[in-house]
Order: sequence, then C-alpha cells, then structure tokens
Amino acid sequence: MVSKDDQKTFQLVDGIAFPLSFNGEVIRSAMNYVAKAGDIFILTYPKSGTTWMETIVFGLLNNGRAFDDDFDYYMKQTPFLELQGKDAVEKMTHPGSITTHLPFDRVPYHPQAKYICVIRNPKDICVSFYHFIKNVPSFGYADNKFETFFDTFVSGKTPHGDYSEYMKKLWPHKDDDNVLLVSYEQMYHDLAVVIHRVAQFVEIEPHPRLLERVLTCCSFTYMKENYDRVRKSWKEKHCSKVELETEQLLEFVRKGVPGDWPSCMTKEQATCLDDIMTEMVKSMPGLKDYWFPGLQ
Ligand code: A3P
Repeated sequence: MVSKDDQKTFQLVDGIAFPLSFNGEVIRSAMNYVAKAGDIFILTYPKSGTTWMETIVFGLLNNGRAFDDDFDYYMKQTPFLELQGKDAVEKMTHPGSITTHLPFDRVPYHPQAKYICVIRNPKDICVSFYHFIKNVPSFGYADNKFETFFDTFVSGKTPHGDYSEYMKKLWPHKDDDNVLLVSYEQMYHDLAVVIHRVAQFVEIEPHPRLLERVLTCCSFTYMKENYDRVRKSWKEKHCSKVELETEQLLEFVRKGVPGDWPSCMTKEQATCLDDIMTEMVKSMPGLKDYWFPGLQ
C-alpha cells in the first residue's frame, strides 16, 4: 500500500514547490519574466487574501469598476505569474497587477516596480488551505482528513512550500520603499484604511467616492455573492474540459473571517502552531501586530 508520505503532492522546480497541475515550462518562463518599472506585483503565500487584494487593486486602477463588470477584462489585468507564464504577463492589459505565490527572492525584481505583500496568521491559512484543496484531486489530497493536511502544513510540504520559509524571505523587505506589507487581519478589521493605503501606494488619488466604491465591491458580501460564480462561468468558456474539472471545485471566497481555525484544529494542533508562531515572532519583531492588529 502506498503511504501518504510516498504520494507525490507537489513538484519542485528550481527548488521551489508547486502544485502538480502547474506546468514546469510555464513556471520556468514565469521565473524568467523581466520586471519593468511600473509593474505592480501582489505577493502572497496561498490563502492569505490574494483574490481580495487583487480585486482591491483592480478597483483602484479602474475608477472603482467591480471585478464582475467584465470578468474577461479583469482576467486580462490580473495574470497569475507562475500559472500563466511570462507571455501572459507580457500581453496583459494595463493598468493591472501580477499575482504570484513565489517567495520574495524569486519574484522578478525591478526597483521601480511595486510589491504589495499580503500575509495572514498561519492557523487560519492552514484551515483555509485545507478547505481549498481537500476536494480537488489534482492537489493529491482528495478526501484527506484535516489532520493529514495539518501534518503536511507543519512539515512545510504543501503544494506551495513552507509558510515560515516564505515569511523569512519576505520579512527583511517589509520596509523597502517599493514594498507595501498588509495583513488579512488588518483588511478584515479596517478595510477602508487598507484600501486607502493601497491607493496611495499605487499612486491613485484616494477620492472618497472611489474608495467607497472599492469598499463595496470588495466587501465579503459582494465577493461571496459574485466572485466564484463569475469566475466559474468565465472558466467554462475559456478552459479545456480537463482544467474545468479542477476549476469547478475551487472556491476562492469561503468563510472570510479571522480566527476560524478552531472549526478544524484540535487544542494540540493549535498549540503546535502557536509554538511555531512564537518562534517566528522572536525573529520577526512586529509580526504580531500584523496577525493580531489592535491586540497586545
Ligand atoms: P477562508 O477560507 O478563511 O474563508 P486567497 O485568495 O489567497 O486564496 O485567500 C482566500 C481566503 O480569503 C479565503 O479565506 C476567503 O474566504 C478569503 N476572502 C476572499 N475575499 C474576501 C473578502 N472580501 N472578505 C474577507 N475574506 C475574503
């Protein structure tokens, strides 16, 4: 019998983990993309609020337009670097943003490009990640139990690599002039403030009417009602039958709250991640303020 440890759930390309469904050549082409002045990158470890930030930046760059107004236009403005490759980014519609889960040191760099990084506390990432992939056979975790994914997450062997390693690469750059670091938790607690900061960072005049419009289109209620629905119908028109089998199972807007981890995690599991978090906070002073805004 093949044990869980023997099953392959990710591939390594140049030492970085990617889901098995990603194409190795496309990944390599993505890594060879040459960043340009004016590029806006959105950097996240998966399940940290990538889509949420993507819709915010899209709204700001498009005069408050909602992502579902014309989803084809939205998709052309928001390429996913390692999934779609260099060509898609070179042909993208501007203005726009480039999404990536690559670790900071492997993201194409230009001193005049902008890098918006969204982080989230690992307990919620772990639970969100589990829900995202548990039913999707191409991730290799179909029908698995939370505890199996938890062990994978803690050992750093997820299809997108190790969370702590990701953070270690990012943290030294958090105060760089062309980097904006925000957290899912900050977005949840004060979305208006985060939208304002993003607007200033991408040099869009933060007009109150624009900010108000973006706030509405990026609210959980609006995104829950519309995002996965329009994404799926777009994919039906643009994906092969094989891709569609996976796409139909993906849910990008699920519960949308910080602190959902007790819904899956045992006390022992939570303690294990707490210990990891304590170690991370020691080497990354100030990290707590991102994970727990407003708390001491
Ligand atoms: P949960 O699974 O905890 O609900 P990503 O886009 O990086 O894959 O992140 C997905 C997570 O962001 C999911 O978390 C999803 O529900 C949450 N999310 C997406 N849009 C959101 C919004 N407008 N408000 C709050 N959470 C949102």
